Amino acid sequence: MAQDMYRSHNCGELRMDHVGQEVTLSGWTQVSRDFGGLTFLDLRDRYGITQLVFNMEDDADLCSQARKFGREDVIRITGKVRERSNKNPHRPTGEIEIEVTSLDLLNKSKVPPFTIEDDTDGGDDLRMKYRYLDIRRNAIKQNLIFRSKLAIETRKYLDQQGFIEVETPVLIKSTPEGARDFIVPSRMNPGQAYALPQSPQTFKQILMIAGMDKYFQIVKCFRDEDLRADRQPEFTQIDCEMSFVTRDEILETFEGLTRSLFKTLCNVDLPQFPRMSYDEALSRYGSDKPDTRFDMQFVELNEQTLGYGFGVFDNAELVVGICAKGQADQYSNKDIKNLTSWLQRPQIGAKGLVYVKYGNDGSIKSSVGKFYSDEQLNEWGKAFDAAPGDMLLILSGEQDKTRKQLSELRLEMGQRMGLIDPNVFNPLWVVDFPLLEWDEESERFHAMHHPFTAPKKEDEARMLTGDHETMKSLRADAYDLVINGVEIGGGSIRIHDRDLQSRNFDLLGFSKEEAEEQFGFLLGAFEYGAPPHGGIAFGFDRLCAVMNGVNSIRDFIAFPKNNQGRDMMIDSPSVISEEQLEELHLKSTYTPDTSA
Ligand code: AMO
Repeated sequence: MAQDMYRSHNCGELRMDHVGQEVTLSGWTQVSRDFGGLTFLDLRDRYGITQLVFNMEDDADLCSQARKFGREDVIRITGKVRERSNKNPHRPTGEIEIEVTSLDLLNKSKVPPFTIEDDTDGGDDLRMKYRYLDIRRNAIKQNLIFRSKLAIETRKYLDQQGFIEVETPVLIKSTPEGARDFIVPSRMNPGQAYALPQSPQTFKQILMIAGMDKYFQIVKCFRDEDLRADRQPEFTQIDCEMSFVTRDEILETFEGLTRSLFKTLCNVDLPQFPRMSYDEALSRYGSDKPDTRFDMQFVELNEQTLGYGFGVFDNAELVVGICAKGQADQYSNKDIKNLTSWLQRPQIGAKGLVYVKYGNDGSIKSSVGKFYSDEQLNEWGKAFDAAPGDMLLILSGEQDKTRKQLSELRLEMGQRMGLIDPNVFNPLWVVDFPLLEWDEESERFHAMHHPFTAPKKEDEARMLTGDHETMKSLRADAYDLVINGVEIGGGSIRIHDRDLQSRNFDLLGFSKEEAEEQFGFLLGAFEYGAPPHGGIAFGFDRLCAVMNGVNSIRDFIAFPKNNQGRDMMIDSPSVISEEQLEELHLKSTYTPDTSA
């Protein structure tokens, strides 16, 4: 064996064509099996697994050396490729094996804390702590390879469309996107701090003013918010901006990108992306990111239910339900009770659940049968197109809350009834979001997308002159890309006029001075010929996950944080030294008196 060479081939590439060749391979030992005079050892690297065979009769020393290997030792072998007598059709290298003639141990491994197999016994935090072992597992490794390809294909496509990738700074000033900022104190400027970007929003707009015309960046963003399966404190966006474009041109461009990525990476031809207004999405599905892989649309019943003595419905702002096809016989009273308890958990917070079951025998059973006649309950059924065997599930209460609760119930029923096909991809543009949201707690308007989003052209005059109530009804030229119920991307046409932007800051509760202090650079730039512009950002991690039919983005990120925002491997965040605190001017001047 040439001592200066670790491998002539990798562990995934040898086939029948190589039979008879002498090869050198390096990798990790996976599983060994002893069969009397023969020892088999699986050698693994990024590219695959190759079976090694050691024959006691040929070389007893080598064979006993092989038997001593534990899991994950790093070895190099040389040997001859031969045809396997017992072929493994599930493995690309399954037709051959290597008859080993020499062997050396490159590095010994401790026993790994979990098994490095597709189905591991490691819990989440353990896997994160030993992420380098976790990444050796096929599932995670494949995710990272997928992610790399997705980034490369994104760059290729956008390059072909004339976009240029520009890097924007990471040490910036706060850009409000609705979450808290991560702050980096400045050593050289006592008492001052940078913020990490929640997105490069203002920079990409400045690049449009700078005449770059079509910008993109695959970029890290940082948001200090509560974590969920599809949220990480640092995540990646495909961030894009274009000048002299209409909303429809933006939607077409990024529908093109999405379609191309699905075709290249998943060999999926996506259907045309339908467009649905925010209002319609809310009234039909109770959500601005509906999973449209199944129907079960909302039907409102206020008119049919009002005035028959059932106080809960009579006093409700909204009475709304869904029809679970064929479920009437599937749900006993106990099942309904359990479903009601599920809805009443604090995460959902429904007060109660009303059902109507249309039996296959023509019978009608309902929790509100006391208040409504069979004839009336049949009328409700008609509104849902219900057939014998179907069951209505109805919620009532305050509009927004009730819609949200029913949306959760719809998804739950979709799951339970097996209506959600993981192999189907249903994209959807949700358009015409409200411009502003009134927040009762802070008694302020918030920007529904972000403060740089333009109102729809037809609403501009009302925005400049209207009163408080008018503001609530303004629509924005903002859109989200939703796939299978996941918000994959969001964007908008931007304000490019200083006065309109100032008015928006004003509505959002910024004083003139605050607006100037935080965004003076942008307002100033608008005065030097800002072109009309707009854009979008895709959640890159979410796109990876959805394309693979997975909800959690964590295993598409090489080194993710856990739910407490901790990196378990490097053990961060961590306490910083007194010296650092002092240097950063963060050290408290107060020293507790411990003498007493
Ligand atoms: P937005 O805030 O909608 O828009 O973000 C764009 C997309 O980023 C993804 N995303 C996240 N992914 C993982 N973890 C998170 N914590 C997280 N937060 C957001 C979502 C989301 O749709 N500057 C604007 C874009 C624009 O207007 O062009 C912005 O950032 O998939």
